[in-house]
Amino acid sequence: MSDFRIVVLASGGGTNLQAILDTLHGRGGIEVVGVGSDKPGARALERAAAAAVETAVFPRTDYADRAARDAAMADWIESRGADLVVLAGYMQLLSDGFIGRFRNRVVNIHPALLPSFPGLDAIGQALAAGVHVTGVTVHFVDEGVDTGPPLARRQVPVPAGGDREELEAAIHAVEHELYPQAIRMIAEGRVRIDADDPRVVAIDD
Ligand code: GRF
Repeated sequence: MSDFRIVVLASGGGTNLQAILDTLHGRGGIEVVGVGSDKPGARALERAAAAAVETAVFPRTDYADRAARDAAMADWIESRGADLVVLAGYMQLLSDGFIGRFRNRVVNIHPALLPSFPGLDAIGQALAAGVHVTGVTVHFVDEGVDTGPPLARRQVPVPAGGDREELEAAIHAVEHELYPQAIRMIAEGRVRIDADDPRVVAIDD
């Protein structure tokens, strides 16, 4: 497989970034060529630096507005030659201009079975709703909040008694497996968004 270049955007701890670095980076033609953040002190940036991956920070306050910040970030991502933008706990909404520049080339991981519990605190939403099963979704990113077409999902049972820490740990463990798997499928060219119906994603064996 020829090189498949990934830029990861992260705002926080970066455990999903770490899983991607540990299992994908430098293997099978996949390279993480940059990690970007809106937060100068994000732990994710330290993880990138430890793996000798280039980093860049785009704080909202350095730019006139969100569109200007996203345009600068998109320029940087393009300069890195990225094939795919991977959101891994990136806590900012991306402007329509950004999504348009990377149409069908931005993915996100969400800690629930979308379309259930979109937006913030999906784990808290699931607990409050009293569901017995929640899960993890990897989806392409469109202009809406967690509305883009899903390409991978896995269920996670809610522990009896609804202990939040236990559920969070179970969800993160699934994320760390599912996200690298989904990204590898994209890198291998096995994931196709239906030209006639962009809500439909086909996976080739
Ligand atoms: C993950 O739970 C992911 O589903 C959500 O943000 C969290 C990021 O965690 N989008 P980390 O920074 O990768 O540890």
